[in-house]
Amino acid sequence: MKKLVLIVAVAFLFFGVFAQKFEKLVKTPPMGWNSWNKYQCNVSEVLIMGMADAMVSSGMKDVGYEYIVIDDCWQISRDENGNIVPDKDRFPHGMKYIADYVHSKGLKFGIYSSAGTVTCQKRPGGFGHEYQDALYYAKCGVDYLKYDWCGSSSQDAKSSYTNMRDALYTAGRPIVFSICEWGSSKPWEWAGTVGNLWRTTGDISDSWNSMIGIFDKQKDLARYAGPGKWNDPDMLEVGNGGMTTEEYRTHFSLWCMLASPLIAGNDIQNMTPETKSILLNKEIIAINQDTLGRQATCYRDNVDYQIWVKGLSNNEKAICLLNKSDEKKTVLVDFALLAQVRTGGRGFGGFGGPGAPAAPGTPGTPAIPVASTATVGAPATQAAPAGPPVGFQRGGTPLTLANYTVRDIWDHKDLVFKETSIYVDMPPHSVKVYRFIKK
Ligand code: GAL
Repeated sequence: MKKLVLIVAVAFLFFGVFAQKFEKLVKTPPMGWNSWNKYQCNVSEVLIMGMADAMVSSGMKDVGYEYIVIDDCWQISRDENGNIVPDKDRFPHGMKYIADYVHSKGLKFGIYSSAGTVTCQKRPGGFGHEYQDALYYAKCGVDYLKYDWCGSSSQDAKSSYTNMRDALYTAGRPIVFSICEWGSSKPWEWAGTVGNLWRTTGDISDSWNSMIGIFDKQKDLARYAGPGKWNDPDMLEVGNGGMTTEEYRTHFSLWCMLASPLIAGNDIQNMTPETKSILLNKEIIAINQDTLGRQATCYRDNVDYQIWVKGLSNNEKAICLLNKSDEKKTVLVDFALLAQVRTGGRGFGGFGGPGAPAAPGTPGTPAIPVASTATVGAPATQAAPAGPPVGFQRGGTPLTLANYTVRDIWDHKDLVFKETSIYVDMPPHSVKVYRFIKK
């Protein structure tokens, strides 16, 4: 009896104290490439190794992309001992061979499975084999696991993913755990201690409507994100052909503002100069990778015209103007006012507390005209400020425009102010991103 109590106590200690997610991983949002958006099941050793080569030769590695992830369809069955079996035709040398190759390029290697009995493409899932699979991943040298939700029927999401987290931890190799349960059980509420990133919605597809629809669903999630735990609005479609260059620039900018994982999903072996200019824009990537790990919050919402703000380290900030409409807009932007927008809040909307602007449409409170919009041809007007949201930046220092250099992140130029309010032309579906850099 005493022995039993001891075993239970040891087991409790082991799982209670030691079963956890690996700390220190992805302190900034993970960056990499994944096969799914472009290739679906058409994956192979040749493709994956070619993508690893391209990540280096294209310059992507130099700007921070790191993970090469094989999505669904690398696995084909389980052997008589329950071990997962890779598709021999597509991966003749097995998965460790690819992991070694990816590592030899100075990159990291990711793989995919599902918490259910099957993956979404009906390959064997991880259910009931969690510890066995985790050991296999560790042995192969896997650095990142995307874990889907297909085949899960009546399983409970939190306990299923926690089980896999514990299996990975027990296997002993630090592996980034990417939870892909499509946001169904609000993983942002429980996954911070379970995984490193969690999908917040269903799958993205390569169209403006899909991308912007997913973006719209991220608005209330900022407070759940931070170093090592990221909301994941799905992988990038930049360069896959279904959106215009302007729209792809918007897609990438919004993902950067949201501190989202930047997982490219295009053919990085053959990129147009436009695609490269987006995926390799170091200045917008720096906003995504800022060490504070803040997800942007929506500061102004005029439905098809919005202003988003992301607090950055060193009391800096990024401000993104978004024209979601199908029309060109001319907006009058008051940079003196934007300079004073607070970035301290992490909650819904992120700007609560004294001095904060009222939410648009709050009865009886005039909206503060940080930027007003007008259609082309009509003069844009700016109402008198109803008291700027003078607030204190992080650290308690009141900052004004005089404290900043304002940089246009896509034009790669610092603004020169004759007036502090400037008319800005915005094509349909476009963004302007400004970084307020401390002087
Ligand atoms: C979906 C997942 C996609 C992709 C696909 C593979 O559930 O959201 O990103 O992994 O399965 O079958």
